[in-house]
Amino acid sequence: MRVLVAGGTGRLGTLVVRQLVERGCTVRVITRDASRAEHLLALGVEVVEGDVRRPASLRPATQGVDVVVSAVHGFAGPGGVSPESVDRDGNAHLIEAANQAGAAFVLVSIVGAAPDSPMELFRCKYDAEQRLRESGVPWTIVQSVAFVELWADIVGKGIVLGGGDNAINFVSVHDVADVVTEVVLDPRQRGQVVKVVGPRCLSFNQLAAEMQRLCGRPRRVRRVPRWLLRGLAHLHRQPRAALVMDTVDMTSQPLPEARVGPTTLETALRAAAP
Ligand SMILES: NC(=O)c1ccc[n+]([C@@H]2O[C@H](COP(=O)([O-])OP(=O)(O)OC[C@H]3O[C@@H](n4cnc5c(N)ncnc54)[C@H](OP(=O)(O)O)[C@@H]3O)[C@@H](O)[C@H]2O)c1
Repeated sequence: MRVLVAGGTGRLGTLVVRQLVERGCTVRVITRDASRAEHLLALGVEVVEGDVRRPASLRPATQGVDVVVSAVHGFAGPGGVSPESVDRDGNAHLIEAANQAGAAFVLVSIVGAAPDSPMELFRCKYDAEQRLRESGVPWTIVQSVAFVELWADIVGKGIVLGGGDNAINFVSVHDVADVVTEVVLDPRQRGQVVKVVGPRCLSFNQLAAEMQRLCGRPRRVRRVPRWLLRGLAHLHRQPRAALVMDTVDMTSQPLPEARVGPTTLETALRAAAP
C-alpha cells in the first residue's frame, strides 16, 4: 500500500510513518521543509516538499498513493500557520488532491470538534470533517484527546497555564499512532469515526507534580494566571485555548463508544521525562 503522510514530520506523524513502514507500506511524507524529515530518511521514506495551503504543491505529492493521512495542524508552529489556513482550508485542499488521485483519506481530528466549540482549532477540525464526509472520498476520521507527551514537555519546563486544577483527559500519542496505522491499513474502517481517549484524567497541577517526581528534582513552577490569560485571550488563540482548557469540561466523559488507549499515563510520562 502506498501512503502519503501529511504531518509525517510531527510528533504523531513520525510514529505513524515508522509503523506504516514496518507494516510494509511505501510511505511518502510531505513537509514544508525537507530538513525537518531528516530523521525519517533512514526508514526509506520518500520526502516531498509542499504546503497544504498551496494546492498546486499537493498534486505531485498525492500522485499514485492509495491513502492520504492528514496529521497536520495550524494551531502553533513555524510559517505563520493558523487553524483556518491549515486545519480548515489546508485539509480541504488535501482532500481535493486525494480525490483527484483516487485515494482514501484518514483525517486526524480532535474529540470535541464542533461548529460551536470555543476553540477555533476545534471548529476548523469540524469543518475539515464535514468537507471530508461530503467529498465522495472514502474516509476515516480519528478523533483524539490531548497527547500527554506534548503537555508533559510544556509542563515539564515548569509552566502551568491558569489555575491548573481542571481535569483533562490525556492519551499517549503512541496509542493514537496505533489506531491511525490500523485504520490506514484496514479498508473496512472507511466511513467510521474512531474516537481515542486516555485511561484517566489529570490536571496540569497533577501533571507538573508528576513530572517533578519523575525528573527527581523540584523545579519552580511558573504560573500564567487565569487573569493574564483572560487579558491576552483577545490578542491570540494560544491564551484563548489555554483559558478554555482551564475552565471548560475537558474530561471527555462519558464517551462510551471511544477506544481507551492502553498505555498508562505513568508509563507515557516516564518515557517522556528528560
Ligand atoms: N497534540 C495534541 O494534543 C493533539 C490532540 C488531538 C489531535 N491532535 C492532532 O494530531 C495531529 C498531529 O499533531 P502533533 O501534535 O503530532 O503535531 P506536531 O508535532 O505539532 O506537527 C505538526 C505537523 O503539521 C505539519 N504542518 C503544519 N502546517 C503545515 C502546512 N501548512 N503544510 C504541510 N504540513 C504542515 C508539520 O509539518 P512541517 O513542519 O514538516 O511542514 C508537522 O509535521 C494533528 O492533526 C493534530 O491536530 C493533536
